[in-house]
Amino acid sequence: MTILVTGGTGYIGSHTCVELLEAGHEVVVLDNLSNSSEKSLERVEALTGKKITFYQGDIRDRHVLDLILEKKYMDCCIHFAGLKAVGESVQKPWEYYDNNITGTLTLVDALRQHGCKNIIFSSSATVYGEPAQIPITEECPKGQCTNPYGWTKSMLEQMLMDIQKADPEWNVVLLRYFNPIGAHPSGTMGENPNGIPNNLMPYITQVAAGRRKELGVFGNDYDTPDGTGVRDYIHVVDLAKGHGKALKKIEEKAGLCIYNLGTGHGYSVLDIIKNFEEVNGISIPYVIKPRRAGDIATCYCDPSKAERELGWKAQYGIREMCADSWNWQKNNPNGYEKNIVKK
Ligand code: NAD
Ligand code: UD1
Repeated sequence: MTILVTGGTGYIGSHTCVELLEAGHEVVVLDNLSNSSEKSLERVEALTGKKITFYQGDIRDRHVLDLILEKKYMDCCIHFAGLKAVGESVQKPWEYYDNNITGTLTLVDALRQHGCKNIIFSSSATVYGEPAQIPITEECPKGQCTNPYGWTKSMLEQMLMDIQKADPEWNVVLLRYFNPIGAHPSGTMGENPNGIPNNLMPYITQVAAGRRKELGVFGNDYDTPDGTGVRDYIHVVDLAKGHGKALKKIEEKAGLCIYNLGTGHGYSVLDIIKNFEEVNGISIPYVIKPRRAGDIATCYCDPSKAERELGWKAQYGIREMCADSWNWQKNNPNGYEKNIVKK
């Protein structure tokens, strides 16, 4: 198949490109590079020995979308492009709604006008809000989001569901990711956050690298075994493979499908610190801080629907996630851009 990957130079998108190319698909990436570097695609090409067609452009730009879609028929779009920083979305809600919602509406309209009614969408566990049950199944009702980023995911799910309902020629797969961490085992690809990381693992790797003094643990008084927040961390390569499997549902013309992509295991912040320290032989100093606004105590999923229907199951464990995260950070202390050896 020929797949349009929006946001394909980003963290999850670039790892997914590896899997798609290895499965024999042709890949066309559209990304405005607002949060990534096109160097990631050089690494993808080096790993797979295959070429990617890359367009630098914005999903809100109808002209660029028409240009891409006129040039080549797309069998499916895997739609990663979006802004994702929770705190920033509270400061800049208009920018988040415009980028994520206007962008997706523009994309979907262009796709259907060019005969592509197949989309796999990057959603998030955040749509469950304060989850009604643990482990979270896909039947759990969606909840109240605590920030505009989360609302864009929740609203876009609803929009895509309505579009599919009105026009059953559409096949829509909504993938609700839990907490992606880790990096490609080669150590050549990984997460490349701008500024101070908001998420746990990139913060830990920067402490390990000596770029930050210590980790702040956001609360140790939750109703969890050790008092710190519990999450379902999933290796980014497993997540990427989930997208390859989701294409099966597109090929089967399955209509609307929703899957949780997680491991089904919950680890606390202290569990992550301990595993990271043991696997990598590095100590991670930390201090207990107040709870972070909007955080919940526990969030992990029941991933059995994806296993049943897609034949997908996470293969990597927490120790591999910790080892691969550090391997990437250690080999690429400044991410993709500043690592080029100048002659
Ligand atoms: P990322 O920032 O690394 O990748 C997103 C990519 O989209 C970036 O390369 C960025 O430049 C691009 N982009 C943003 N707006 C664009 C636009 N208007 N036009 C074209 N390109 C644009 O993030 P990621 O972690 O790889 O996340 C991928 C998707 O998965 C996002 O939609 C995100 O919300 C979702 N998601 C991520 C997580 C996570 O923890 N990483 C969890 C749940 C869901
Ligand atoms: C966050 C987002 C969520 C998004 C997800 C993946 C919030 C409220 N939620 O989820 O919408 O889909 O990222 O991008 O931001 N922690 C620390 N110290 C840190 C960082 C995190 O103790 O410096 C703790 C958190 O309190 C939490 C756990 O580590 O218990 C994981 O945090 P994080 O990696 O930010 O992910 P989530 O909060 O689960």
